[in-house]
Amino acid sequence: MPLPYVLLSAAVSLDGYLDDTGPDRLLLSGPADFDRVDAVRASADAILVGAGTIRADNPRLLVNSAERRADRVARGEPEYPLKVTVTATGDLDPDAKFWHTGGDKIVYTTDQGAERAARRLGRSADVVPLGPDLDWRALLEHLHDVRGVGRLMVEGGGTVHTQLLHQGLADELQLVLAPLFVGDPAAPRLFGPGAYQPGRLRLLDTRRIEDVVLMRYVPTAPGTGAVATAADRHWLRTACELAALCPPSETAFSVGAVVVAADGTELARGHSREGADPVVHAEEAALAKIGADDARLAGATVYSSLEPCARRASRPAPCAELILGAGVRRVVTAWREPDTFVAGADGTGVLAAGGARVVVLPELEEQAKAPNAHLL
Ligand SMILES: NC(=O)c1ccc[n+]([C@@H]2O[C@H](COP(=O)([O-])OP(=O)(O)OC[C@H]3O[C@@H](n4cnc5c(N)ncnc54)[C@H](OP(=O)(O)O)[C@@H]3O)[C@@H](O)[C@H]2O)c1
Repeated sequence: MPLPYVLLSAAVSLDGYLDDTGPDRLLLSGPADFDRVDAVRASADAILVGAGTIRADNPRLLVNSAERRADRVARGEPEYPLKVTVTATGDLDPDAKFWHTGGDKIVYTTDQGAERAARRLGRSADVVPLGPDLDWRALLEHLHDVRGVGRLMVEGGGTVHTQLLHQGLADELQLVLAPLFVGDPAAPRLFGPGAYQPGRLRLLDTRRIEDVVLMRYVPTAPGTGAVATAADRHWLRTACELAALCPPSETAFSVGAVVVAADGTELARGHSREGADPVVHAEEAALAKIGADDARLAGATVYSSLEPCARRASRPAPCAELILGAGVRRVVTAWREPDTFVAGADGTGVLAAGGARVVVLPELEEQAKAPNAHLL
């Protein structure tokens, strides 16, 4: 199921705290960074905070710039992004500013929390129960499918950020590091303990803003099962972008591929007809750049914009067999091979029979097809 692009945003002290324990909200950044946050809010369809942040900070979560609001309206969007919160207890103060400013509001909760939340809030917000426990993936699917949210900004707190990262649902982190210490172990931390992705995230960009530093990261470690993570979508988008680099052909598809180790390290990438080889396939080109004895292949994922081929005229070994032969057991693709050149090609079937898991993300199919429009 397609999910919104999830952007986690926070400001943090040098010792990793989101706030202190005083009654007022700790201001970690300054006017220029607040204005940057305002621009990010204006680019989002929805803004989410946990109920803890509503209780602690009583935030309004608005787009403050009238010009940015006018631009949203000119684009056909609501003046303000949808405001979203999560609660298990339903213990929400109906007088909080969150409910009395901006546009639509929605509360995701449990079956148990729903009655209390609805009783407390009346008509101020839509209350959506998601079962005995709050399932974050179900929440994101609901936001996408029912509320049309393509881009979700999450503004904390730490409990919420931690869960979205643990569950592989965060597409991007925007962290502002503030030059001060909190030093109080009772204060809320940005990230709690638990199972994060192994290895390193990718640093997209850093920027100095007055005396704070903005850092943007993307999670990189592939998922491990049948359910795609945000990092899976990131790598498959990369594969689709590589497909656009292929020399055009009337007799073969343009495909991009990336091979990524379990810790998020990119092992190799390739695209069809790359270099001086007019018949090489994307997965074949990428795998050829990795030593056959590389132990990381066993835990790696191959991302290919088109399902790996099961039969080919140009070479004896189809890509599905090359992948199995390399020891890779997980493949993520955007598009099942049509009958254009090979009738009934079923690379997925070959891979599955060989013990590999294939995950198909149809939400990227159009992007995978784009460089092949002349063949379809
Ligand atoms: N520096 C920054 O950028 C920044 C940004 C935001 C917040 N903050 C700070 O962060 C602190 C608040 O953070 P926090 O971690 O305590 O709270 P939080 O993440 O804002 O909210 C936690 C609450 O959200 C609900 N919740 C979270 N996960 C849930 C789940 N899976 N199912 C059901 N409900 C769930 C629960 O509400 P119920 O208790 O109602 O069940 C939980 O107590 C405040 O001090 C605030 O100032 C700082």
